[in-house]
Amino acid sequence: MSSPVLPEAPSLHQSIIVLGVLASGSGSNLEAITKAIANGQLQAKIAVVIYNEPDAFAKQRAQKFGIPAILINHRDYKSRKALDLAIINILKQYNADLVIMAGWMRIVTQVLIDAFPERILNIHPSLLPSFKGIHAIEQAFDYGVKISGCTVHLLSLEVDSGKILKQSAVPILDNDKLEDLQKRIQVQEHIIYPEAIAEYALKLSL
Ligand code: GAR
Repeated sequence: MSSPVLPEAPSLHQSIIVLGVLASGSGSNLEAITKAIANGQLQAKIAVVIYNEPDAFAKQRAQKFGIPAILINHRDYKSRKALDLAIINILKQYNADLVIMAGWMRIVTQVLIDAFPERILNIHPSLLPSFKGIHAIEQAFDYGVKISGCTVHLLSLEVDSGKILKQSAVPILDNDKLEDLQKRIQVQEHIIYPEAIAEYALKLSL
């Protein structure tokens, strides 16, 4: 007697989100995301890290985890658009579902945004919409606010202005030095960025 054809069991396997990371500096957020992937908190894979500063420590971190790290030095491109086209080319080659800006310090053009609509995330070290732009931690510290923090948001053409996905508040204590605040904000960044990526990917059904 032939065995009955059984319906396929529902799969418990969640699909793996393919991430392309852009980094300009130390890459501590890159490392936090990598660790969240390694401990199963984030069902994702970092397919490629693109960095624009030749001595960015993010390169070493990527290599430590066996992730391809590709230098796209903005100084080699005639325009912001040309730079973004080179970046898009690599991200598409690596089939990125989401683009993760982890300390990416270049202003982007519409070309990049159009290539990955609603698919580019950025982290910024303030409670947006306060203290946009560079030196955000210093801006908040000098202003004397009592609570700052960090924000994960979708990228938009206007700097640090896209839809907010997740935030964490960080108190500024009376005796804090700038470095104390920097450290405390980074601790929170490393927590909320992997969480925000996982939550957003779920929302998009990636
Ligand atoms: C992070 O604090 C991130 O919020 C900030 O750069 C740092 C990168 O650190 N980004 C911005 O200021 C963007 N406007 P990391 O290289 O160690 O991840």
